[in-house]
Amino acid sequence: MSRPDAWAPAQYERFREERAQPFYDLMRMVKVASPQTAVDLGCGTGELTAVLHRHVRATSTIGVDSSEAMLERARALGIHSLQFVNADIAEWWPPAPLDLIFSNAALHWVPDHVTLFGRLREMLRPEGELAVQMPANFDHISHIVATEVARESPFSDALGGYVRVAPVLAPEAYALLLHSLGFAAQDVRLQVYAHTLESTAAVVEWVKGSLLTDYAVRMPDALYTQFVEQYRARLLEVLGDQRPYFYAFKRILIWARTPS
Ligand SMILES: C[S@@+](CC[C@H](N)C(=O)[O-])C[C@H]1O[C@@H](n2cnc3c(N)ncnc32)[C@H](O)[C@@H]1O
Repeated sequence: MSRPDAWAPAQYERFREERAQPFYDLMRMVKVASPQTAVDLGCGTGELTAVLHRHVRATSTIGVDSSEAMLERARALGIHSLQFVNADIAEWWPPAPLDLIFSNAALHWVPDHVTLFGRLREMLRPEGELAVQMPANFDHISHIVATEVARESPFSDALGGYVRVAPVLAPEAYALLLHSLGFAAQDVRLQVYAHTLESTAAVVEWVKGSLLTDYAVRMPDALYTQFVEQYRARLLEVLGDQRPYFYAFKRILIWARTPS
């Protein structure tokens, strides 16, 4: 089942440059040239899907996303060799085996990575490539504070006790998983991205475009506004009003290739 749609393209794109950097780093890890079919899982607004499509010189690329708001923007690109599909990554299956599965900043929304990566492995042709980038920042204070606020009243009642627990594994667990799934080559990296934001409060705008969407879909608008205000107050209390604020953001980058 798809998640309810809390993705707001404009909010997500407020940190477009910072968020694009890991995409370019991941794209540079891809080795396959001129794949017949590539897929971009969690393609969002599709702009980066188009960059990937041109960079690898794919014959056709499918963008998969469960947010209609994001897909509307993607379809408006009007590139005929790009096809956009509204589907849940956990359930989508390609029409034919794939040469390249690419996913930037999306798989951390999909549960059970052992099952997920097993499915992705099955979708690939011989010498097919998998390239995945996900945040691994869930132990950062910006995320810890969100969990703390979600556990407090009145939010915990509205959330029915739900708090976001990311399914992202340790880098070495992915290395082991890729090996056990029979990938013939792999490269797993943990990278810290150094973002200098205008102020501590800018972190609130950052997480509103990502982490907090998971809480936004689970409570009425007025309560969510209150949640964000409480989050902002707590974060400023813990970190102080730093100007600028240095946001050290961990991400995992994964590349792997199936045997010939
Ligand atoms: C952080 S955005 C990344 C978008 C794009 N890949 C980029 O790099 O700009 C995450 C995207 O994943 C999509 N997404 C999250 N969970 C999903 C799921 N289970 N199935 C399909 N799409 C999902 C969201 O709708 C959103 O567009």
